[in-house]
Amino acid sequence: MNQVRKMTIWQGLIAFFALAALSAIIVTGVVAFRSVDGVYFDLPTLFSAATLIFVLLAVNFIVLRAYGKGDAVSLIFVFSVLLVVVVVAIVCLHFGYAYAMPLVFLPLLLGMCFHKKSAVATHFTMIQIIAVCMLLFSYRSESVLLSELSLHIMILVVNAASGVLTIVVIKPYASRLRVLFTTAIIVLISGVIGFISAAALGGDPDVLQMVTVGVSVMIGGAISIFAYFCLSPLFERVFNLNTGLRLVELCSFDQPLLKELEEKAPGTFNHCLTVSNIAERAAYAIGEDPRLAKAAALYHDIGKIENPEFFTENQTDGYNPHDELIPEVSVKMITRHTEAGAKILTAKGFPKEIISAALEHHGDSPVGYFYNKAQKITEGTLEEKGYTYTGPKPQTKINAIIMIADICEAATRSVRPSTHEELSSLVDNLVRSKMNEKQFDECPLTMAEITAVKEAVVNTLMGVHHERISYNLNNKK
Ligand SMILES: [Fe+2]
Ligand SMILES: [Fe+2]
Repeated sequence: MNQVRKMTIWQGLIAFFALAALSAIIVTGVVAFRSVDGVYFDLPTLFSAATLIFVLLAVNFIVLRAYGKGDAVSLIFVFSVLLVVVVVAIVCLHFGYAYAMPLVFLPLLLGMCFHKKSAVATHFTMIQIIAVCMLLFSYRSESVLLSELSLHIMILVVNAASGVLTIVVIKPYASRLRVLFTTAIIVLISGVIGFISAAALGGDPDVLQMVTVGVSVMIGGAISIFAYFCLSPLFERVFNLNTGLRLVELCSFDQPLLKELEEKAPGTFNHCLTVSNIAERAAYAIGEDPRLAKAAALYHDIGKIENPEFFTENQTDGYNPHDELIPEVSVKMITRHTEAGAKILTAKGFPKEIISAALEHHGDSPVGYFYNKAQKITEGTLEEKGYTYTGPKPQTKINAIIMIADICEAATRSVRPSTHEELSSLVDNLVRSKMNEKQFDECPLTMAEITAVKEAVVNTLMGVHHERISYNLNNKK
């Protein structure tokens, strides 16, 4: 299961002051714009509004932590985007463009790179904070009519609904054209609802007002989409996000790191290609992001570029350096590739999901071959402890998929099953051995998903080795 990391007292204090400061900045923003009209607030009102915003942000903070986005970088990213959108909304409110607030930007951005639930929670926090700001704006102001306020709130509700729809409908691995097309339709529908809302709530509505509201909502949506396409590459770089576009870029064979892998460790490179195909298909089968699985699998063994000749897939000339080493040293040379890979990927600024796959794809499994070799030398008195990978065990479904794809690909190359049944039972046994080692105990993979992953592994490997593996018709029903 996913473990929510405990917060230290210092982290708690920093979070408290950060959220308090954010609330204060938002309320100050309202005051700064509204006092121009000569309307001032009393301190108890401001304090109540700031407290309300603080509570909303604090609840959002808890949700983000629960869905694994509680690290400092993610929090800075979410809250800085949220703050900017709220400030833009305050400016729109002040200058009379309340219907054109670009509120689809945040759900679009977060929906593409965050857990859906945390994206929805943050979207609602933003909507509620803007509602508080709207009420503050109309507070004691004689220029804001009740009908206007109710229409503002209605448009906010329309934005809330279109934001949720954007998050739910658009898959993180959708193409840019699909994202554009889907959001454009959602924005168009919002505009039509805005048009109808103006007729129903606009006091004494005329066609011009209805058209203005409808078109303004669409303009706000269009600005959101434009801002998303312009700013998402920047956010990807600065905050190391894994949006669809970034992942496609990382899977390109133009990537210097992949070129280096192909050059220094061609065997490992081919192994990674097959593992990435398996992982992509398996992730799709269980509703995980196939692009992330593919990219993470491509780089899972990148640590092997430091000592490629120590891995069988790269030993083409018959020379095996392990023949000259004691098992204890051999194990160290083999197991270090997980940490080395994580280090290389961190240095190159890769998304943390890809780094974790490199680190976790062997979990804390024992390196059986060298353990057995060492046991023969020590006549069976050896502890397994020094002959295992350093872990941690896979923490996500995708990392567990890569673990399964990795061992199945390697075993198929050495065992060389010749029928579908042989391959199925090989995959079954390998997955069972990992379950016996409790490698999947720290990730939320269910038994039904493991079955779907095994099926995807078998089907992909059948495709890869189609000239060698046949369907055994005698055993088929
Ligand atoms: Fe590996
Ligand atoms: Fe591997």
